[in-house]
Amino acid sequence: MSTIVITGASGEIGHSLIEAFHAIGGNRLIALDLNPLPDDLRAMVDESITADVASPAAVEQLEKFEVDEVYHLAALLSTSAERNPELAHHVNVNGTLGLLSMARRIGTKRGTPVKFLFPSTIAVYGLPSVDQKRVAGAITEDQYLQPTTMYGINKLYCEQVGAYMSDRYGQLSESAGTSGLDFRALRFPGLISATTVPSGGTSDYAPEMIHAAAQGKPYACFVRPDTQIPFMAMPDGVKALLALAQAPLQSLTRRTYNIGAFAPSAEAIAEYVCRAFPNAEVTYAPHAKRQAIVDSWCADVNDQAARADWGWTPDYDMNRAFEEYLVPTISSVYA
Ligand code: SER
Repeated sequence: MSTIVITGASGEIGHSLIEAFHAIGGNRLIALDLNPLPDDLRAMVDESITADVASPAAVEQLEKFEVDEVYHLAALLSTSAERNPELAHHVNVNGTLGLLSMARRIGTKRGTPVKFLFPSTIAVYGLPSVDQKRVAGAITEDQYLQPTTMYGINKLYCEQVGAYMSDRYGQLSESAGTSGLDFRALRFPGLISATTVPSGGTSDYAPEMIHAAAQGKPYACFVRPDTQIPFMAMPDGVKALLALAQAPLQSLTRRTYNIGAFAPSAEAIAEYVCRAFPNAEVTYAPHAKRQAIVDSWCADVNDQAARADWGWTPDYDMNRAFEEYLVPTISSVYA
């Protein structure tokens, strides 16, 4: 039995991850969220802590447990972060640093590292122009790391701090080399869940379009039809987190991995949506600033490293995501 901490527990990834752990069974789940968990999630976890992830009180409460793994999902996403950059830095950076330090202390004391799973993002990339984005195509982890948003900057920094605290912490001190932390990050594309809608992201146009159509509501898409970024169905996102957590450390050649699934234009998503929901009404009303953010993200990711090192492969391409996951599940959600 492992003791597993999940922050941002009632967010989109948290929701699906808790369901997955509940189905697997046999672990002790400690959920942390800014707000009390909804009853359905509360029933699936062993402890539920309501606290600001970036507060000392949150760390103090979590540190009482013999934590084996942390899934640190709490964050302000890219659109929310641009509306309040200081708060984003506080939550996304200070909150992460507090938990990394906590995990490191627990692992060092025990003599076996705490695994720390961190959702990073395609927002760490900053393509200089739409033309170059088109030419660049699927990019690797080390290309175009010039994020334009607070969120992307926060996540890129935390990737590096996580690797530092795992491999080089206090490298001049005597305790250096005895890391209690095993940090692993995934750069998620836009995630699309059939059961929850995102809030505060800039990839939100895809899930918003699908959920609007399923409810029979018209949708004005806030990016141009030709806008392209990678997306993934939520079950694959959860699968990737669990697979990376289980991979033997010696098989990993890096601490941060791209993962991809499909990379449609907004127009292609609209076509799928209109086929699945023939009454769907999709129009385009690009929001200049949100458009610029998405234009700076890559058109697609090269995920060869994840495939080679820990056997990553998505279950859902776009067809299967729509036919076997999104459409049937969403239809029953709004039935
Ligand atoms: N979904 C995130 C956002 O839109 C990107 O990782 O902010």
